[in-house]
Amino acid sequence: MPDRAHRYRDGVHGARTPALGGDRVRIAPWRGDAQVAYVVARSGRPSPTAISGCVDELARRGFRAALTTALAEPDQAPFLANGFAVHERLHLLARPVQPLLDPPAVEVELRRGRRRDRPDVLEVDGAAFPEFWRLDDLALEDALDATPSARFRVATSGEDPAILGYAVTGRASSRGYLQRLAVHPRAQRAGIGTALVADALRWLRRWGADEVLVNTQEDNHAAVALYERLGFRQQAAGLAVLRRDVAAGGGAG
Ligand SMILES: CC(C)(COP(=O)(O)OP(=O)(O)OC[C@H]1O[C@@H](n2cnc3c(N)ncnc32)[C@H](O)[C@@H]1OP(=O)(O)O)[C@@H](O)C(=O)NCCC(=O)NCCS
Repeated sequence: MPDRAHRYRDGVHGARTPALGGDRVRIAPWRGDAQVAYVVARSGRPSPTAISGCVDELARRGFRAALTTALAEPDQAPFLANGFAVHERLHLLARPVQPLLDPPAVEVELRRGRRRDRPDVLEVDGAAFPEFWRLDDLALEDALDATPSARFRVATSGEDPAILGYAVTGRASSRGYLQRLAVHPRAQRAGIGTALVADALRWLRRWGADEVLVNTQEDNHAAVALYERLGFRQQAAGLAVLRRDVAAGGGAG
């Protein structure tokens, strides 16, 4: 899952990203829904007081609900102390960066994703993911920007230029992140997802990464099956997206 932390960048949409809680928390509308705030911890773990102030601010601005990024357990505490509850749990899986032992022999072409591919990529994304997790253009941009370097690959087949799948892989020093992976439902179970992950692993290895992480919804059995088959192992501590309602005129409970 990509982090939409950079959706409203400072300097570009600075007016929408007030410094809250000592500059630790930033808020932005959740995708198309202007009434749902996306709360992003900017650096480090915000204090419960910072989150309380943030919720008050959301109420003043007329937001109805707030969602967090995918948070590890220790980072959930200040939110849970302020009336947030688990909205969705995510598995966190990890794998050493080694090539696949038996890379797939599928008739799939992988090439660099270009800016002009984005509408088609978003269409694949929209067809592959349930509504809550679908990316829009800004969120795709965020996925590409979330790490210092990123690889954006699209999959096609034979002469047909239609994009059947795509992957965004990020790298920050020796860590790799499968930020996004989707295959159009009409092209699934043909090895395209595996080919995209194999490509990501090769790229990460080339740049010296030693571990790759991915998170996925707990009920996403297809993704978990794919990753486990490719040697990823579930980590004991998962992640969770938290949510709370925000009552107009009310603040943190
Ligand atoms: C997960 C996803 C990318 C897999 O892509 P794919 O091209 O169908 O995957 P592959 O064909 O390479 O599958 C390889 C193996 O993964 C497992 N797998 C894939 N989809 C599965 C499913 N629906 N049910 C059970 N196992 C599945 C199988 O072991 C499969 O091998 P097999 O077909 O020989 O049994 C695709 O289902 C998808 O886009 N899902 C929606 C978006 C998503 O969840 N993305 C990942 C989020 S982190």
